[in-house]
Parts: sequence; structure tokens; C-alpha cells
Amino acid sequence: MLEWVEKYRPKTLKEVAGHNEIKEKLKKWIEDHIKGKNPKPIILVGNPGCGKTTLAHALANDYGFDVIELNASDKRNRAAIRHIVGTAASSKSLTGKNILIILDEVDGISGTEDSGGVSEILKVIKEAKNPIILTANDIYKPTLKPLRDVCEVINVPNVHTNTILAVLKRIAEKEGLDVDEKTLKIIAKHSGGDLRAAINDLEALALGGEISPEIASKLPDRDTERTIFDAMRIIFKTTHYDIATLALMNCNEDLQTVEEWLAENIPNEYKKLEDIERAYDYLSKADIFLGRVYKRQYFGLWKFASALMTAGVALAKDEKYRGFTKYSYPSVLNLLTKTKAKREVLKKILKKIGEKTHASSKRAREDLELLKAIIENNIEMGADLVRYFGITKEELENIVDKKLVSEIFKIIEKKKKEEQKEKKEKKIKEKIVEEKEKKEKIEEKVEEKIIQKEKEETKEIKVEETKEQKEEVKEEKKSKKTKKSEKKEEKAKQLTLDAFFK
Ligand SMILES: Nc1ncnc2c1ncn2[C@@H]1O[C@H](COP(=O)(O)OP(=O)(O)OP(=O)(O)O)[C@@H](O)[C@H]1O
Ligand SMILES: [Mg+2]
Repeated sequence: MLEWVEKYRPKTLKEVAGHNEIKEKLKKWIEDHIKGKNPKPIILVGNPGCGKTTLAHALANDYGFDVIELNASDKRNRAAIRHIVGTAASSKSLTGKNILIILDEVDGISGTEDSGGVSEILKVIKEAKNPIILTANDIYKPTLKPLRDVCEVINVPNVHTNTILAVLKRIAEKEGLDVDEKTLKIIAKHSGGDLRAAINDLEALALGGEISPEIASKLPDRDTERTIFDAMRIIFKTTHYDIATLALMNCNEDLQTVEEWLAENIPNEYKKLEDIERAYDYLSKADIFLGRVYKRQYFGLWKFASALMTAGVALAKDEKYRGFTKYSYPSVLNLLTKTKAKREVLKKILKKIGEKTHASSKRAREDLELLKAIIENNIEMGADLVRYFGITKEELENIVDKKLVSEIFKIIEKKKKEEQKEKKEKKIKEKIVEEKEKKEKIEEKVEEKIIQKEKEETKEIKVEETKEQKEEVKEEKKSKKTKKSEKKEEKAKQLTLDAFFK
């Protein structure tokens, strides 16, 4: 049985709901190609499930083109892409039809570990004679600038709620579902513009046998990130090790929660007893590893736990089970609202960790597991990390035992107080030193002034002294002179006396 999203995927542009302007642009673009004008390749940019891939296929179908579609971010496709460019020089397929090349998810190649990817795509664009449509969720990463420069970027907006409602109504009618408009509206609104998600939700509810507004309002959060449902689908449907291990990449659940989900859903997906037995066997091994991560701080084991859970369960089956499986929440439905709130909080925590460690959300999830293990084994260190990441008490209560949380925040408060005290003391000390230095400087200045004054005084005294000395000398000279003249006078007197008595 085909999934509804595939069953109801529009085949022609007319069937694609909304996006009227974009359809016109695309038509003109491909007509220009047919006329040999060779316009720039187009990048369709938009959130998941808004219809990018659908638009490209519908366009090809309307104009009788064959499609070659490749996931651009998958390295294994590089050779294939090059090969196509090499052989498609005639720009016609084996059937003689024109070929439209669709390179999906080009934003997936922006990682630093794959910097060659972009230049390879650029080469393809330069050499290919065929029309090319690229798709991406986010094209505004700096590494993708060269692609933006050589392509025409067309933004595909989220699908309007009313448009989604119309599509859901049509599907419900065709499937003969007994569902009221209110329920469909809830599903449409809840999808946040992601038509794929809306159709998937409707299918899940239909398979569950009960479609009511109450159940619809409890649907899991469908934001633009992959949810645990998608992770389940990947793990259960793939038989590839690589794909399975990447299933949790964008899923904001901790490993224990994923384990619960897998445990609940293994018998929903797998039907052969041997498959079920093997899957549970891997899951129990994963559980042992996970336990050791927490109990003994063997952080390296986290990877094994994760691999056993994803790839172990995926490879437990002999072959893929076709058809749609409704994955259910661990235990009861009322867990839904609880886990939704918890997921929101978890997302916030992961964001905080990611911001500090500059890591991807996958890495942040690993870090979170480590943080939990550290908290259980070394609470002081755990408290330091919680504080470093800026995780609040309320947030932490969602992932760690409440008792531990209050202990952690006691430690944090204590440390904060100690630090404040230290800060204060440091400030006081600094002030004392400052004052001391000031005082010393003033003293120095005073001393300098005293010395200067003394110098000036001695100078003055000296001047005075020399003056006095000079005066004294003068005086002496004067007295000498007078004495001399007195003597002279006396002598003269004597002489006159002598002369008189003679
Ligand atoms: N505008 C639309 N009209 C009708 N059906 C749509 C539309 N958009 C999406 N769908 C439905 O949702 C499914 C997914 O759409 P599509 O694969 O085009 O999304 P996308 O934008 O390429 O998403 P992604 O970024 O995840 O590749 C389609 O199979 C189709 O059933
Ligand atoms: Mg797509």
C-alpha cells in the first residue's frame, strides 16, 4: 500500500495546490529552455513538505521531460552526477525525451567535512546542457553563496492553512473517511505549512481508527525538524547501516526515550518472530551499554548504545516490511501532551549546549547524555557544566531527577555566593592597594616639595651669606682704610710734632 503522501502527490502543476506565481515562473523557464535560451538553473528554497520536489516533477511531467533526481548531499551520488553530466551532453534521454535534472537537498553539502561538494555541483551546472532544478531548505549559508550566484533563487513559501485544508478534504473524500471539518482544520493548522506532515497525520489518525478533534489536538508537535516519528520510520524501514545510524540526527529525544519508542513499536512494524526477537536482543544490548554510560561514566559507550539501537534494530529484519505503519507512543496516549512539553524544553537545552560547544544538534545530544552521566557521578562538575550552559532549574527538572536538580542548584547558589564574596574581597583589597599607592604618591610629592624648598632656602642663605661676606670684606677694607689713614694721620701728626720739637 502506497503512503498517502505518495498516493496523492500531484502529477501536474495544475494539481499542485497554491504556489501559482511559482508555477508560472517555472513554465516560462522550461519553455525558454526548449527554445534553446539556456536560462540559469533554479533553486527552489523552502521548508520541508511545501512542495518543492513535487513542483519540479510536475513541471517535467507537464512538458514531457524525463527526470533524473539525485540527492546532492549524498556523497555516493557524486560519481553518478558526474556521469550524468558526461553522458547527457546530447541532453536527451534514451527514450529520446528531454531530461530535467533535479538535485535535491543541496544545503546538505554545506558541511565543512564536504567542502568539495559545492564546487562539484558548480561544475555540473557549468557543463550540463540540461535544465537543472536544485532544492534546499536553507540556501543562505555562506558556503552556498557560489550556488546562489549562478542560479535563480525561487522561494517556495509554506502552504497556507486553507490550502492544506482543501487538500485534506479532498483526500478524506477519496478515502471515504468519516471526519468533520473541525478535525481537518486542527490537523491543517497543526502542520505549520508542511503539507506532507498534514497528510501523514491524517493517515496516522485514519489508521488509528478514530479521527476526532480531541485526538487531532493531541498530535505530536510537527515543526520543521524531524520528529521521533520520522526517526522510527527511518530505523524500521531501512536496511542500511549508514542510514539507520543517522536516523536520530535531527531528533531531539534522549536515548532513553528513543529506546522506549523502539520497544513499543518493534512488534508494530516487524511481523516475523525471528525479526522481533533479534530486534529486542539488540535493544537490550543497547540498554546495557546505556546503563554503563550512566553508572560508570564510560562515555565512549554512548556511541555503541546509539548504534545498537538504530542500526541494530534496523538490521534485525530479513527484509523491509512494505506499507504504512502507525507508530505509537510508548504506553498511553495521554503521554502526548507531557512529552510535547518535555520535547520543547529538551530542544531549548540542546540549543543552549550547541551554542556553547558550537556543535550540531546530534553532537549536542551526545553532550547532553554525557552531562546527565556526569551529574549522576560527579555532581560538583555537573553543577559547573549546568551553569556554564545556562540551563535553568525548570529545564533541568525535565531531564534529571528533581532531588539531584535541587542539589545542583544549591551548589550553584553556594558557588555564586562564594564568588560574590571573593569578588567583594578582591575589590576591597584592590581599593586598599589603590589608596596606599595614592598615599605614597602624595607623600612622595610632599617630600619632593620639601626638598625643593630646602634647596631654595639654602640657595637664599648662600646668597645672603656671600652678600654678608662681601659686606664684611668691604667693612674690613673700609676699616683698614680708615686705620691706614688714621695711621697716616698719626704719622703725619708725629712728623709735625717731631718737626716741632726739633
Ligand atoms: N503544494 C502542494 N500541493 C499538493 N500536495 C503537496 C504540495 N506540497 C506538498 N504536497 C504533498 O506533500 C508531499 C511532500 O512534498 P514535497 O516532496 O514536494 O516536499 P518538499 O518541499 O520537496 O520537502 P523536502 O524539503 O522535505 O524535500 C507530496 O508528496 C504531496 O503529497
Ligand atoms: Mg523534496
